[in-house]
Amino acid sequence: MNDQAVTEEASPNPKPQAQSPESILECKGLSRDFKSGETTLHVLRSVDFQLFEGEIASIVGSSGAGKSTLMHLLGLLDTPTAGEIFYRGRNITKLGDEAAAKVRNREFGFVFQSFHLLPDFTALENVMMPARIGSGSLQWMREADSRRNRAIELLERVGLGERLTHVPSRLSGGERQRVALARALVNEPAVVFCDEPTGNLDSKTADEIFVLIDQFNKELGKTFLIVTHDENIAQRAQRHLTMVDGVFVDTPKNAG
Ligand SMILES: Nc1ncnc2c1ncn2[C@@H]1O[C@H](COP(=O)(O)OP(=O)(O)OP(=O)(O)O)[C@@H](O)[C@H]1O
Ligand SMILES: [Mg+2]
Repeated sequence: MNDQAVTEEASPNPKPQAQSPESILECKGLSRDFKSGETTLHVLRSVDFQLFEGEIASIVGSSGAGKSTLMHLLGLLDTPTAGEIFYRGRNITKLGDEAAAKVRNREFGFVFQSFHLLPDFTALENVMMPARIGSGSLQWMREADSRRNRAIELLERVGLGERLTHVPSRLSGGERQRVALARALVNEPAVVFCDEPTGNLDSKTADEIFVLIDQFNKELGKTFLIVTHDENIAQRAQRHLTMVDGVFVDTPKNAG
């Protein structure tokens, strides 16, 4: 596996970290095919993309364009057919399962449209889950209290300080997504992937979720990649990209 920093453009004096310093996540020539019997579906077609550190970038595009597929690849939830993915200049395309799980758990957070909370666990337990999963038993014995406090702090920050012991069925949709957002942040990831985070919410609640995302971006410096069908949310991102048939097309705010 090529584990070296990659060069953005051929340069006579490549720096040790030749990738753009602001680029936190990047893909080059990323393709994903799905085979179905005799047919091959070319869902992503050699996508080049950079996510810049500290930004909120949004991706819109019609259903089936490949937005979730791209997000899953960048988040190491799926494996590309071709192309490469770099995180802070390190090639993470072909990490083994364990190494990929580590990157996912420590560096990335995920928020999905349908919340994906564990139904039998309280809000607080759901938020603590990635911290628990990412720790060995001994480490957890040492860190459980501080992780729990961090989870409580995050739940308070998203306005759910009074709902710590509620299970998801006793929370509204907006509240569930707030729990999911807190869970995505509990391990202090650098990048948070949000796949239609407001897709199941009314516009006022959607707006409240975006306000929280914006706060976590500005106050904690987290980088967000948001896939959405909500033009209002998309336009409020700092960079706005459009995907059509597995490739990005130019939009006025697409400076990447
Ligand atoms: N595991 C899979 N096997 C076969 N085809 C798949 C698989 N996952 C996705 N696809 C196909 O890839 C295409 C893109 O799917 P994707 O979920 O990325 O679209 P999307 O842009 O996120 O759409 P939406 O806005 O509806 O969520 C679709 O045609 C879908 O059927
Ligand atoms: Mg999708």
